Amino acid sequence: MIASYVVKLLMLIEVLMSGARLHVDALSMGYYDMSCPIAEPIVRDVVDQALRQDPTLAAGLLRMHFHDCFIQGCDGSVLIDSTRDSTAEKDSPANLSLRGYEIIDQAKQMIEDQCPGVVSCADILALAARDAVFFSGGPFYDIPQGRMDGSRSKIEDTINLPAPTLNTTALIKMFGQHGFNIEELVVLSGAHTLGAARCSSFKHRLSNFDSTHDVDPNLDSNFAKSMSRTCSQGDNTPMPLDPTRNSFDNAYFNALQRRMGLLFSDQSLFADPQTRRFVNAFAMNQAMFFFNFQQAMVKMGLLDVKEGDEGEIRLDCRKVN
Ligand code: HEM
Repeated sequence: MIASYVVKLLMLIEVLMSGARLHVDALSMGYYDMSCPIAEPIVRDVVDQALRQDPTLAAGLLRMHFHDCFIQGCDGSVLIDSTRDSTAEKDSPANLSLRGYEIIDQAKQMIEDQCPGVVSCADILALAARDAVFFSGGPFYDIPQGRMDGSRSKIEDTINLPAPTLNTTALIKMFGQHGFNIEELVVLSGAHTLGAARCSSFKHRLSNFDSTHDVDPNLDSNFAKSMSRTCSQGDNTPMPLDPTRNSFDNAYFNALQRRMGLLFSDQSLFADPQTRRFVNAFAMNQAMFFFNFQQAMVKMGLLDVKEGDEGEIRLDCRKVN
């Protein structure tokens, strides 16, 4: 009788323990509440300080998180440096203009000083992108944490990043492969409310566009002229993606309505009726844009995340342990 009671008790403890392990391994809100409660405030302060010095870095952090998540899942793989034997994601042409690595390094170092080996680089990047949106005037949202860092970072994987020459059919397909619907594609593209693109990303719209047009017909003619002026200063010259490049707002969607989207891929969201209705909705209603954006960002932040033994806590975000 007593023996069977003890066996049952042991079984119960085992179930509870495995449940606890599962909880620890899985992503959750407040994942570091016990192990490193200072992590979130550190990231927030480091991002805040950095953006006070250079507000354009908010765009860099947001884009970096996107490029991390779309390749190998949100596992900090974009942060890894190339080695003698392997060229990493960050050295791909699609990533050469990524900015903000030093912000992640600084937050990581301060967190390691407080709680060594506990907080992943993937989580630091996800938190930094979240905070960058908020400090630029966008919505604040809570994100689940507990992503583990990956060890693979290969230039060839970045072929799966979207090019600015893609039309809506291709964008819908690519985002669909990551589980996003058409509305989520449009709302995530709203990230282009922050930041800039270099001439090399849009100059194909300005001459020899297609067999019947020299200049992209979906482009406002005055805006096309100012794009050409930018490009006259060289391929690396940046031009804002919307009229308020450091403010997270819905001006990007209003610009698309005026055919003043800088990237072909952005303007095609207004040209295609499947996506245009969402552009119009977000242009009319900023609160709706903010609400849907935060939901889509939480979803993006969960793409193919590694949990528990599937990854590691990198000690230096630029190197696998
Ligand atoms: C829909 C497909 C997308 C395409 C084709 C695309 C493409 C681009 C391109 C070509 C640039 C300019 C790069 C340069 O010239 O240096 C850019 C910048 C940017 N992208 Fe995207 N992007 C897409 C979606 C996203 C998403 C989903 C996010 C974030 C959630 C994002 C965030 C950004 C930000 C913030 C910038 C500005 C970066 C800076 O100023 O440093 N993009 N994107």
